[in-house]
Amino acid sequence: MIILGIETSCDETSASILENATVLSNIVVSQLVHIDFGGVVPALASKDHEKLINQVVNKSLEVSNYKLSDIDAVAVTQGPGLIGSLMIGLNYAKGLCVGLNIPLIGVNHLMGHIASGFITNDINYPYLCLLVSGGHTQIWKMENSSEYSIISTTVDDAAGEAFDKGARILGLKYPGGPEIEKYASNGEVGTYKFTIPRVKANPLNFSFSGLKTALLYLVQDMSKSELSKNIYNIAASYQETIINTLLNKVCDVYSVNEVKDVLIVGGVSANERFRYKADILKKTRGINIIFPDMEYCTDNAAMIAMAGHLKLKGNFKSDLSISPYSSINAVNNEF
Ligand code: KG4
Ligand code: ZN
Repeated sequence: MIILGIETSCDETSASILENATVLSNIVVSQLVHIDFGGVVPALASKDHEKLINQVVNKSLEVSNYKLSDIDAVAVTQGPGLIGSLMIGLNYAKGLCVGLNIPLIGVNHLMGHIASGFITNDINYPYLCLLVSGGHTQIWKMENSSEYSIISTTVDDAAGEAFDKGARILGLKYPGGPEIEKYASNGEVGTYKFTIPRVKANPLNFSFSGLKTALLYLVQDMSKSELSKNIYNIAASYQETIINTLLNKVCDVYSVNEVKDVLIVGGVSANERFRYKADILKKTRGINIIFPDMEYCTDNAAMIAMAGHLKLKGNFKSDLSISPYSSINAVNNEF
């Protein structure tokens, strides 16, 4: 079974070929047009997807040594994401499926992130999944391939957003996560104290918006030279607060749930300090924490193809009339 995966939900144009559960290619083009704007500009994103999609799909076929006519199914991100961007990938996928007379698998982007864990790992049900991306910070409890619930979620900003907004306050580039990580690696953790409020209504939930405000208050009184002297320590302290918040919550949820494994996925899971601190937790608390390989953390089509592969194994029916959606709960998304 050969699946072509396509991902165009935000600012990465990506295509992947998956043979059974093995990734043969995973081509990801991160759009550069947004850098000068400090964030993703939806109209420019769809324009770039349109320009790139055919080349990216052809390159993924070339690397895999397969031809278009060898493809058995197309898995494509259906949502959530930017509607104009999703539309480009979805319409392209539909065209291929009609032309080749093969099934179309609409994939929820978040389920794609969760599936990224399965590409190079064996994960045992029931497990917890911490999903940390630019738009979402959630802990899912996965009972089996079709039953799951969301135990924790953010009441305001996502962890990725805390990195992105924090970077902007510090005058760093977008996306902020890798930038803050770079500066933090030369700084001293704990030089600055940031606190994260507990969410009173549900202590298992996350809240990150106060952190960004605390950062703003700290740096707005600094002169340019004071900020440039201290930026490494500030970045290290800020990053550490986000990481500690995430890992503390994982421990809280783990302690009240009988699970075997804890999977951590999404763009923020590419953070080396986060992976290092999770590894310490693994050793000290005996929690079996699993990360996807680095290349499957940020948006990519291999995870979408993998989710498609898992969906095909279940109770799946192809439907060429599916449309993109921006909300997480729009469709039934079991694997
Ligand atoms: O999963 P993803 O690629 O896209 C979404 O589905 O949102 O996640 C993007 C987010 C951005 O907020 C970005 O700043 C963050 O992941 N990110 C990181 C790192 N790489 C990407 N955050 C911290 N450290 C990183 N190395
Ligand atoms: Zn994503």
